[in-house]
Amino acid sequence: MKKIMKPEFWKESVIYEVYPRSFKDSNNDGIGDIPGILSKLDYLQDLGIDIIWLPPVYPSPNADYGYDITDHYGINPEYGTMDDWKQLLHELHERNMRMIMDLVINHTSDEHPWFKESRSSRDNKYRDYYFWRDPAPDGGPPNNWTSFLGDSMWHLDEQTGQYYLHSYGIKQPDLNWDNPNVRKDMHRAMRFWLDMGMDGYRIDAVNSISKDTSFPPATDTEKMQANSSEFYKNGPHIHEYLHEMYTEVFSHYNIFTTGEASDVTLEEVKEYTHPAREELNMVLMIEASKICDDPKDMWKSKSWDLHELKEIVAKWQKDLYGEGWMGTYLSNHDHPRLVAYLGDEGRYRVESAKMLGIFQLTLRGTPYIYQGDEIGMTNASHLHTIDDVTEQQARVYYDLMTTKYGEDPEQVMKRIRPKARDNARTPMQWDDSQYADFSAQKPWMQVNPNKEYINVQRQEDDPDSILTMYRKLIHIRRKSSALLYGKYDCIMSEHDQIFAYTREWHDEHWLIILNFSRSEAELQLPQELIDRLESSELILCTHGDHSRDVARAAISQQPAQLKPYESLVFRGFSILDQ
Ligand code: GLC
Ligand code: CA
Repeated sequence: MKKIMKPEFWKESVIYEVYPRSFKDSNNDGIGDIPGILSKLDYLQDLGIDIIWLPPVYPSPNADYGYDITDHYGINPEYGTMDDWKQLLHELHERNMRMIMDLVINHTSDEHPWFKESRSSRDNKYRDYYFWRDPAPDGGPPNNWTSFLGDSMWHLDEQTGQYYLHSYGIKQPDLNWDNPNVRKDMHRAMRFWLDMGMDGYRIDAVNSISKDTSFPPATDTEKMQANSSEFYKNGPHIHEYLHEMYTEVFSHYNIFTTGEASDVTLEEVKEYTHPAREELNMVLMIEASKICDDPKDMWKSKSWDLHELKEIVAKWQKDLYGEGWMGTYLSNHDHPRLVAYLGDEGRYRVESAKMLGIFQLTLRGTPYIYQGDEIGMTNASHLHTIDDVTEQQARVYYDLMTTKYGEDPEQVMKRIRPKARDNARTPMQWDDSQYADFSAQKPWMQVNPNKEYINVQRQEDDPDSILTMYRKLIHIRRKSSALLYGKYDCIMSEHDQIFAYTREWHDEHWLIILNFSRSEAELQLPQELIDRLESSELILCTHGDHSRDVARAAISQQPAQLKPYESLVFRGFSILDQ
């Protein structure tokens, strides 16, 4: 297909994920809410973000904190009212900002009226809204698929003696998208919010909605979680359903759509996002955020090296050029904190947080910043036993490992502590007061005691803070066609500490140098780059005078030592005579 790089607002925007439960509590019940978000719009605007992404605020029993919906047309009273929601959208629009919400279409809550009907009898008219199958001859589940949580993907419902399918938790039965009524009902729910002016959707688990309904047995049985993904990711009708969604719904609005799609090849991303195919506008690059997960069991950590990261980035940056679009996504509410897994949350927290900000905001692709990363928030420190963990994925894993596999609970906790989703869900740290000004009451999840020194108030007016760095970066990015659209080329790709790349668009050129390590790194630029650097300007750096010295040394062909996580951003180096 033809390569095109057409400007679009959603390519030029910076998106910020507000995790509603943990952002700001307005009525002091300990739970973040929509009026809380409203009270922080100045903060978000000053930061320079264009679009907020709001994870589910629909009514939900919160088995998966909102990703288990009981009513696609309402607001969970914990978060406020429909009027609050409308006001939020209105005030964002007044500020020329936009909002997208999660569209959770792969499953509903088991408390959704459709599922209640569906499970009530085998011939209920909603039976076929979900996947029901008879037990295997031995009475066990219809096949050996495992869910994302690691247990069987099938759950027996005593009432009708059949199993239903759940890719996620037991309380999240999968919808049957092969049923045209499901598709029609979901299209209607999508229009409901768009008709009220919403600006788009982040579509949850989008590439799971078409499945091989012959349900063949999984062969990759050594994999704990989602062992059979080849049968339900990027499935037989996926493109048909997305194109239908586009023609029926999305094409009628000035909006954009982002797909959360894991386990995709670049060829698949092109199919999902090439404009001529009329499916989605972008797919999120999730791969990098999984770099420290053992592919057989995500709770086990694997070591990673910079070459792996360079390969992932090159794939999405180079191979997708002009043929599709992606969101650059390094952390969210499902992952450990950005500094914790890609940087250093101890001694070099500040330095590595800045470097990671530079990294994310100088790549092509719409950046998704997760709340708190802009001040270098760290993993939670209160996850001592499993009772301290609120999220279902970790809890199900713990049960499985300690009961079915008889593992030592402390060994299992050692894996869970650095990885549980709770790490990203501790309340936003606004100041150093008792509850970090998230709330005046004890919050639903413990505030990290490091709010004493990691908080917005402390960084707001500090010219050297992580927050200030993010503000500058967002500002710079907005004005640079090269950073938004330019070609990406990795340089010194063999280096195992330094991640360096150029971004070029017509006569605008950038060079980004990141020491992606905890140790000093020797910087010796290749000669052709030195020649080009002479006319350039050091726009941004992490280590003040030291970085300026490094820049001077580099230009005058002297080797220089980068400090841990030291990073430099140059603009305007001259075009190579080719
Ligand atoms: C997405 C969400 C996650 C949720 C899952 C199931 O991955 O980010 O929080 O648990 O989908 O809906
Ligand atoms: Ca509240």
